[in-house]
Amino acid sequence: MTTDTSATPRLAGALRPALSPARTVVRWGVRHGLPAVFLERGARRGDLVGRLLRDSSVRDEPYALYEELRARGPVSPGSIGLVTPSHAVASEILRSDRFGVGWDRAQAPRLIRWALRFGDELDATGVAEPPSMLVVDPPDHTRFRRLVSRAFTPRATAAFEPVVQRTADALLDALELRSGEVDLVETYAAQLPVLVIADLLGVPTERREDFLRWGAAAAATLDPGLSFRRYVAAERALRAMHAFLREHFARLRRDPGEDLVSRLVGLPDDEALTERELHATVMLLLGAGFETTVNLLGNGVVLLDAHREQWDALRAAPSGWDGAVEEILRFDSPVQITGRTAKEPVTLAGREVRPGTRVTVLLGAANRDPDVFPAPARFDVGRANAREHLAFSAGIHYCVGAGLARLEGVVGLRALSERFPALRVSGRPVRRDLQTLRGFEHLPVALHRVARR
Ligand code: HEM
Repeated sequence: MTTDTSATPRLAGALRPALSPARTVVRWGVRHGLPAVFLERGARRGDLVGRLLRDSSVRDEPYALYEELRARGPVSPGSIGLVTPSHAVASEILRSDRFGVGWDRAQAPRLIRWALRFGDELDATGVAEPPSMLVVDPPDHTRFRRLVSRAFTPRATAAFEPVVQRTADALLDALELRSGEVDLVETYAAQLPVLVIADLLGVPTERREDFLRWGAAAAATLDPGLSFRRYVAAERALRAMHAFLREHFARLRRDPGEDLVSRLVGLPDDEALTERELHATVMLLLGAGFETTVNLLGNGVVLLDAHREQWDALRAAPSGWDGAVEEILRFDSPVQITGRTAKEPVTLAGREVRPGTRVTVLLGAANRDPDVFPAPARFDVGRANAREHLAFSAGIHYCVGAGLARLEGVVGLRALSERFPALRVSGRPVRRDLQTLRGFEHLPVALHRVARR
């Protein structure tokens, strides 16, 4: 039997919701258009969070603005709730069960509730929307987290070191064949994490250029107030990723391997994830696995190029790389911003906070808090307490992949410095046009090969 849906547009829409421009407009409006209006208005009135999120010059160099915010106190009002640049307050919020990542949709105005329902569609769902683990509270969060954290224990991560080393070496071998200036992000910093996470998740590494393209577009959905043009590009990327995942899950159901995703698709009935939860979990692991670590590597190379004596010292004493990676994470954090919503009345730095209040937590500012880090604007790979940074957050959402990211940072940077000790940044590095994530899109370097004995 064939069904002609062309004569019944409503039915056609139901069968092919992916093609409905109206839904895309509604999704963009509620997730980005509305916040953009608030932020824009705030920015015009001098609100610093509005400026941080809307003004591209501040986005490139946010640290002066963080200090302006710090001068206003540990918690101050902004255009979307409260904001904190304080390490102590950020730690308290992130570890408190009085704050959550979710928000009660039932409390939203009717129009917003309608818009969320109308725009809801699995294939357009990104990692900043439920049921992504990042944005759900217990008990669902506990359930998802338990299922994946076994693959990221310290022992499992350590067992991955040879894969990371082998992958870095192979990429560096390929770089040896290049001459002149190369883009280190394109050829190395982006490649290493995507190849490692693809290996860990058992997704085909041959698709890595697709993952990188989709990830770059979809990463923008972490930022509030995205323009319609960028939202449409992000949604296209999300659809492609979901389509890939759907086929991949079908393949693994027929022919499972030993990897984490095979385990997730084959869970017994009492533990099984719904299709939507499975998509959200694997998409988050895949995206978080490379969209952040690329920034750690790129930011690290730029910082060490600007502090050449520290690069040389690390080359002379490679045991210092562990501390150096912590300092890079602290000094120029790959994830700058997160947020929480108060679930009940709470007092924060002496201020009464009502339930439902959103608090923007500036991880990048907390990591420059002089109460914790003396002379915080000084980059020092020997800093004794660099590891106290909040670059991986804290509390129940503490980064699952922190151990893997540290391993990739240490192995990736050490291997690069050993192979190309005279490497120099040779042109203007270009920052990614993102607010939540901080890193470089292009990083021109001269490799300056030295003859190997
Ligand atoms: C330098 C690299 C990385 C940085 C800076 C980073 C940072 C973060 C931060 C700040 C959060 C928590 C956000 C919040 O509290 O709202 C987070 C969560 C998460 N990260 Fe990472 N990450 C990195 C690498 C990775 C890697 C390699 C993976 C690999 C799988 C990963 C997987 C995750 C997952 C699954 C979560 C959600 C955890 C939860 O909600 O319970 N991350 N990451």
